[in-house]
Amino acid sequence: MSNLKISKSGHGLGADVQGVDLSKALEPDVLTAIKQAWAEHLVLRISGGRLSDDQLMAFSQNFGPLDLRPVGKAAQNSVPGNHYVTVISNVVENGRPIGGLGNLDAEWHVDMSYNPLPAVASILHAWSIPAAGGNTYFCNMYAALDGLPPDLRARIEGLHLKHDAGHTSVGGLRRGFEEAANVREAPGAEHPMIRTHPVTGRQCLYLGRRQEAYIVGMELAESEALLDEIWAASTRPEYCWEHVWQPHDTVMWDNRCTLHRRDGFPNDQRRIMRRTQIGGDVVER
Ligand code: SIN
Repeated sequence: MSNLKISKSGHGLGADVQGVDLSKALEPDVLTAIKQAWAEHLVLRISGGRLSDDQLMAFSQNFGPLDLRPVGKAAQNSVPGNHYVTVISNVVENGRPIGGLGNLDAEWHVDMSYNPLPAVASILHAWSIPAAGGNTYFCNMYAALDGLPPDLRARIEGLHLKHDAGHTSVGGLRRGFEEAANVREAPGAEHPMIRTHPVTGRQCLYLGRRQEAYIVGMELAESEALLDEIWAASTRPEYCWEHVWQPHDTVMWDNRCTLHRRDGFPNDQRRIMRRTQIGGDVVER
C-alpha cells in the first residue's frame, strides 16, 4: 500500500495510479483504494509493465465477472481460445486484421449499451501505441447531467433511449447485422436516459452513442432534434479528459457514467490494445 499513489488528472474526470504491479494479485487494502478512486474519478490510468492476457483477466476480475467479448466479433478481434479478451488494432497479419476499429476515429460511445445488460466497465491495456494519435477521450456523465439547463433536463425526465446494436463506434455495420429502414427499427435495447449509478447512488446521463439512437415514443424529427441538443450540452470540454497513451498503460473506465471516443492515427503505425469487460448490469432509473 505504501507505494500506491493516486493523482487527479486535473480535468473533468480521471486519475493516475502509480506504484501498483498489476501482474500480481493485489493486496486487499490496495484493491479497496483502487475501487474507491475509481468510484470517485470514473476513469483510472494505471502505469506499469506489459500484461499477458491471463494477467489482464486476473486484474479485471477484481471488479466483477468478465463479460464475453462483444457479438459480431467471433472471428476478427478475438484471441484464439479466449472468449474474454478483445483485440483493438489496425495491424493486419497474413491478410487478416488482428483486431477491430482499424486506425479510424471512433465516435463518443458507451461500450455495449445496446445490450439489455450493458457492460459495467472496460479495461484497455496497451501493447503497442503509435508515435502520434490514437488518444482516447473520456467524458463525465454525472457532470453532463448536473450541467444540463433545467428546462432541457425536464424534457428528458422519464424518457427511454433506444441504443443501436447494428453499428460500431467507427460507423461500420457490425458483422451479422443489416441496415435498418429507420432508427425506430434498429436492433438494440432501450434504457432510461437518466440512470442511477448502483455504487455511488448518483444520477447521470446514459446516452450510449448518437448514431441510430432514438427517443422511444417520439416523432423521429423531434427525437433527432432533442438528441442533438442533449449531445451538444453533454460533451463539453470541461467534462472531459484526453488520455495520451504510454506503452503498457492500463486504463479502466466505468461505462455506467462515462462516454469515450478515440482519435484516428496513421495506418503505417502499429496500435495493439487488449480489452476486457466486466459483465452487464440492469440500467435503473
Ligand atoms: C474503445 O472504444 O473501446 C477503444 C478505445 C481505444 O481504442 O482507445
